[in-house]
Amino acid sequence: MASRIVAFKLNGREVEVMVKPLTTLQTVLREQLHYTAAKTGCRQGGCGSCTVLVDGEPVMSCLLPVENIAGQEVLTLEGLTPHDGLHPIQQAFVDHFAVQCGYCTSGMIMVAKALLDHNPTPTRPEIVDALSGNFCRCTGYQPIIDAVEEAGRRLQAG
Ligand code: FES
Ligand code: FES
Repeated sequence: MASRIVAFKLNGREVEVMVKPLTTLQTVLREQLHYTAAKTGCRQGGCGSCTVLVDGEPVMSCLLPVENIAGQEVLTLEGLTPHDGLHPIQQAFVDHFAVQCGYCTSGMIMVAKALLDHNPTPTRPEIVDALSGNFCRCTGYQPIIDAVEEAGRRLQAG
């Protein structure tokens, strides 16, 4: 099938890619544009390691044909990270030892970002619910939930 050009905004910058039909956003990010923070896990929508935000909502980029997001805005962990340090969510993950191997971390942080944007003071059950599509094999989840809770407090405090 014929390739086509898809344009979208990535971390505030306009990008255009030439793709075959049904090429996923994950493949475009990692293999064409070399943005590798979104990890490749199950490639079936089951682990959340590939999560990025599209127009502010978390999506599993392994399931999303890039042509479906033409004209939309994608935020990855690279775009969230300030040039001179860490975003408050990232810092809270460090402070609460919520990162071990780190494979799940990018996806967890992007989900946390969307949650805290929509709901700056989530309850622990709301945090658990938001993160329910993201697997972590290392931490036992409690440090991640603590980190998201703390990040919300810090963002509220400014
Ligand atoms: S790699 Fe996308 S959900 Fe697992
Ligand atoms: S820190 Fe290793 S999978 Fe979550």
